[in-house]
Amino acid sequence: MNILVTGANGFLGQHLVKYFSSLKHDVTAAARGESRIPKQIPFKYHSLDLTDENAVLNLVTSTNPQVIIHTAAISKPDECENNKDLCLQNNVGATRYLLHAFKLLETPGSLFIYLSTDFIFGENGPHNEDDKAGPLNFYGESKLMAEELVMGSGVNYAIVRPVFIYGPVWQGLRPSFLHWIKTNLEQNKKIKVVSDQLRTPTYVYDICKGIDYIITQNKTGVYHLAGKDILSPYQMAVTTAKVLALDAALIENVTSETFPEPVQRAKRSGLRIDKAQRELGYEPVSFEEGVKYSFN
Ligand SMILES: NC(=O)c1ccc[n+]([C@@H]2O[C@H](COP(=O)([O-])OP(=O)(O)OC[C@H]3O[C@@H](n4cnc5c(N)ncnc54)[C@H](OP(=O)(O)O)[C@@H]3O)[C@@H](O)[C@H]2O)c1
Repeated sequence: MNILVTGANGFLGQHLVKYFSSLKHDVTAAARGESRIPKQIPFKYHSLDLTDENAVLNLVTSTNPQVIIHTAAISKPDECENNKDLCLQNNVGATRYLLHAFKLLETPGSLFIYLSTDFIFGENGPHNEDDKAGPLNFYGESKLMAEELVMGSGVNYAIVRPVFIYGPVWQGLRPSFLHWIKTNLEQNKKIKVVSDQLRTPTYVYDICKGIDYIITQNKTGVYHLAGKDILSPYQMAVTTAKVLALDAALIENVTSETFPEPVQRAKRSGLRIDKAQRELGYEPVSFEEGVKYSFN
């Protein structure tokens, strides 16, 4: 199958390119600038800025994908809050250009998969797919606007919402929260981690598998592809220390007030995965297993 992955230099994008290329799909990785993706597996690389409408049209018409997996976004809430215009151009405008170009292809059986987030919701998680949206910050608002564009576009679509993605890293990928824990504890440094926020952290390989299930089972609609454990960052840090046999006593349990942030985040977030389990056969690993696999 001919699959186009946007945001292919990003954390999830690189994993998706690796995953689908290894399954012998014809993968085009689209990203800004030079490729940062390891070259062990063959894939095509297309460099572009998705805020350039003509470049997007050229990308889509020249690659003629059956599936687009659109991960590209400004994914840092602080950056979105500080530069709302830029956030809109990248998170909403780029999605509009991709949808428009994809629709022109009129490929039968095609699918547009949009990577959204739990940040489209407010408090009182974990949330179901059809819970009422209510973003608490501009990043969440921009992702919700993009979801609405996808839903109203007329293309065959699936919207996938993960939470707090973690997994293996290599050169060219930013270290994840888990790697920050490991590095500090290995150097015997004390760290403060918040315990009053709840999430359902998602092992990156589970998202790849869930998206694969959506494609192979011809599913459409909204799916929460998150982890099965509801944990605070503090609990994640302690589990990471335990799995890596590091000293959990170096981790101090603090509340969010310790780190005043310009961006409001939900205390109780996280996503329920019952629908994906029922309809796709999605079965994510436990957080403890995910940590083990992240460092193997
Ligand atoms: N990370 C999480 O915990 C999490 C949780 C829930 C949902 N998500 C969603 O999942 C998706 C992937 O997240 P991630 O963690 O992989 O993010 P990431 O590492 O920040 O990757 C996003 C990529 O998008 C690229 N990009 C942004 N604007 C672009 C543009 N105009 N043209 C071309 N490329 C552009 C960035 O390029 P540069 O590298 O050049 O900046 C970056 O490589 C995002 O849509 C995010 O909203 C993430």
